[in-house]
Amino acid sequence: MKVQTICILGGAGFVGGHLVTHLANEGHSLKVLTRHPQRHRELAVLPTVALVGAGIGDQAALEAQFAGCDAVINLVGILNGSEAEFQALHADLPRRVAEACRKAGTPRLLHMSALNADPNGPSIYLRTKGQGLQAVMQTEGIQATAFCPSVIFGPDDSFFNRFATLLKLSPVIPLACPDARFAPVYIGDVVSAFALALEDASTSGKSYELCGPRVYTLKELVEYTAQLIGRKRLIVGLPDGLARLQARIFEHLPGQPFTTDNYNSMQRDSVCRSDGLAALGIVPHSVEAIMSRHFHHQDARAYRYEAMRRQAGRD
Ligand SMILES: NC(=O)c1ccc[n+]([C@@H]2O[C@H](COP(=O)([O-])OP(=O)(O)OC[C@H]3O[C@@H](n4cnc5c(N)ncnc54)[C@H](OP(=O)(O)O)[C@@H]3O)[C@@H](O)[C@H]2O)c1
Repeated sequence: MKVQTICILGGAGFVGGHLVTHLANEGHSLKVLTRHPQRHRELAVLPTVALVGAGIGDQAALEAQFAGCDAVINLVGILNGSEAEFQALHADLPRRVAEACRKAGTPRLLHMSALNADPNGPSIYLRTKGQGLQAVMQTEGIQATAFCPSVIFGPDDSFFNRFATLLKLSPVIPLACPDARFAPVYIGDVVSAFALALEDASTSGKSYELCGPRVYTLKELVEYTAQLIGRKRLIVGLPDGLARLQARIFEHLPGQPFTTDNYNSMQRDSVCRSDGLAALGIVPHSVEAIMSRHFHHQDARAYRYEAMRRQAGRD
């Protein structure tokens, strides 16, 4: 394995945290561009990782950051925001990153897109992801590899954990798009895909769809989460009209737990047409293998703390 110097955008998020840790453990040097370097001490303590508080809006600054690197990885993405934010981060930034790679003489680029990314897709999220993907793959003079995952899961994800929190709060869950289909892919497998592509120049010019081994409906995934946290819950699938109404209300709540654009994205099943993990020689982990262990450990921890509180007379 050749030790590389890699510049990562969006490297302090959920996927980024796992990828940076993995690549640092392999001995690579990593420059993580983030808006908040002071917030990510867990990454800053890794000996070959530097957190850089660089703005990504300035093209000359991007080129300067990429100069001298062996590769660039772009993980920047949002689920909610204004149309202008989606356009800037999903469509314009990937094009500018690809252009900066070419100008800086750092042609190797790994780009994170999403399953169903499509300039003609049903949501702003999917359309702008599609425009960004197209721009990256069409930039001449670079060697780009792209990844299009279904929803990504892991012990610290915001998918299962968000539903787990919701299920703990309410005995009844009114669920929009209950029949939407997903093939959740394990964060460890996504990290392996990036790490393998970094080593293998023959992946250049290709786009890999990443899915887990099984397809579930959203309702099945929420029911499974309830089972994992040991709660009996009534999960009521909403008909289309009510699902759209829920999105219109929830997009005005703090944190925008569900938006009309999310609803529109779920009109396409998040299921792979080609098996990118198999193409890379990766055997995918199942939701059951990873998440049952995670929630089991969480329960055991909660039980231990409860016992300690009881012992200290604080219950
Ligand atoms: N998680 C999934 O299930 C999933 C599924 C399909 C595709 N993806 C894609 O995978 C990528 C990583 O996802 P993730 O789950 O790791 O997301 P995340 O935890 O929210 O991290 C996203 C990163 O994007 C950067 N970012 C967000 N808004 C920004 C802004 N206005 N300006 C500059 N940077 C900004 C953040 O960087 P700083 O805060 O450090 O500046 C953050 O580290 C995204 O492109 C996402 O679309 C994720």
